[in-house]
Amino acid sequence: MTSDEMIREAKSLVTRSYSPYSHFRVAAVIEDIDGHLHAGVNVENSSYGMTMCAERSAVFAAVATGVKEFKQIVIYSPDGPPVPCGACRQVLWEFCDKDFKITVVSDGVPPRDFQLGNLLPEAFQL
Ligand code: THU
Repeated sequence: MTSDEMIREAKSLVTRSYSPYSHFRVAAVIEDIDGHLHAGVNVENSSYGMTMCAERSAVFAAVATGVKEFKQIVIYSPDGPPVPCGACRQVLWEFCDKDFKITVVSDGVPPRDFQLGNLLPEAFQL
């Protein structure tokens, strides 16, 4: 699937973000090895530390359907470039190769592509 198709999907999902505290809306779509998309949004909580990022929501939703191999993820926010946090990088590392493609998209700036291995060098793995 092209990044453009995934970007369109992420843009359509971002209204589902539950972000009443930060007002930073994020949607993520992850493509699995069979070309299916799995969606996630950030879900905040009044106990701030309970917040779940869009990327992890997407990975966990996919795993719950029985999928554990992925090709790429697109992350979109209209509120600024949603570069994945450290926790999300580690969760992606659990399931993805070091050349796994991460596309970060916001409005008014060009999309940026990263490889997981560059965002999480010397990753921890058992
Ligand atoms: N957030 C994500 O969901 N993904 C990112 O890549 C960056 C940050 C969320 C967490 C929180 O709900 C809000 O954005 C502000 O940190």
